[in-house]
Amino acid sequence: MRTLTPTLFLLYLYHFCLAGSVNKGGACSTKSSRLQAGTNQFWSDCNSVTFCSDTDGTCVPKRCRKDDFPFGYAQGADLPPKCSKGQFCPDEGSDCQPALAVGSPCQLNRDDECEGPPNFKDLADTSGRGLNFNGSVCLNNQCMWANATLGNACVVENTFYIAYGVSGEFADIVSRGNCRVGLYCDSVKKVCMTNKVLGAACGADKECDSWNCLSTGVCGTSAATPRHFGVWVYVLVVFGIFGGMAGTLTGLFVTHRKQRDREREKRVQYWREQNAFHQNLLQMRETARASILSLPNQSGTSPQSTLYGGRDLSDELNTPILQNAAPKASGLRHYLADDNSEYDSGSMMQPTKKVEGRF
Ligand SMILES: *[C@@H]1O[C@H](CO)[C@@H](O)[C@H](O)[C@H]1NC(C)=O
Ligand SMILES: *[C@@H]1O[C@H](CO)[C@@H](O)[C@H](O)[C@H]1NC(C)=O
Repeated sequence: MRTLTPTLFLLYLYHFCLAGSVNKGGACSTKSSRLQAGTNQFWSDCNSVTFCSDTDGTCVPKRCRKDDFPFGYAQGADLPPKCSKGQFCPDEGSDCQPALAVGSPCQLNRDDECEGPPNFKDLADTSGRGLNFNGSVCLNNQCMWANATLGNACVVENTFYIAYGVSGEFADIVSRGNCRVGLYCDSVKKVCMTNKVLGAACGADKECDSWNCLSTGVCGTSAATPRHFGVWVYVLVVFGIFGGMAGTLTGLFVTHRKQRDREREKRVQYWREQNAFHQNLLQMRETARASILSLPNQSGTSPQSTLYGGRDLSDELNTPILQNAAPKASGLRHYLADDNSEYDSGSMMQPTKKVEGRF
């Protein structure tokens, strides 16, 4: 118990609800055997692999089973045998018994406990809806044959179950009768009536041929009917898929092209700026050289002549601007950044002052 996860614990509880907890050899009472409220499942003191024996009042291993895969047995465990044809295994799982004659007591929903009629081939329900078993039916705990005909008296049994839906618990009443297949036993008049066709007014599923009385009160198509769609739906879906793919690709293509154009524009602009800058620099050099050459000769004592004199212009282009701007010309650097200005020998004399006035 300590190590059980919540899920296992719930399973444990579930297991506990389906059967008692007394193990093999333990004391039990057949008086406490009953049908569980809500599910109408058989319940006894004994656990799911034993039954309560009348003879000594203890739980003993089951001696037959009615299910192919009975509940509560371990994997690979030895299962009790199923009963042969013409016999049945009661809910307790005590012993195989011969099928019961008409009028004998039987257990809830155990039509198979009752003996079939001589004309079982005509009466047997082959729809898979469990209207009867081999033409016999157990109603109100009594074996009978499902042979009542149209307009004649019939027996009806209404069983209450608790069902669970999205919005919680609700009552599910199952109504069964002993009318022949194709008829239903009217709960009020207690006579057999013909099953209703599609669209006819109904009060319960059993009244409809389709076994589906809609909430609107008319017989609808069977709930098991597969839904078919027109060809246009498939065409629409295919178009939707390819249209979606094409739309996505086109959208991405357009977006990326715009992005690419923007990037290219930036690069072109950058290149233009750099080019203009370069041109400007060349121009400035020319002007500077021209102005230096035009100055009166100062016998090489001027720092300007040592700075620019005798040096190749193309070498200068590869060196950083700051270095060119070196000793005195902080104003020269500012001048370089100004594309539209003219440089003249007059401003060269007071470069800093003149340049600051421009900004
Ligand atoms: C149906 O009932 C008849 C008559 O009792 C019996 O001979 C036959 O074996 C039964 N069929 C099945 C499948 O139980
Ligand atoms: C119909 O079944 C009942 C038992 O449920 C039986 O007594 C009666 O004889 C049957 N009637 C016919 C016509 O087979």
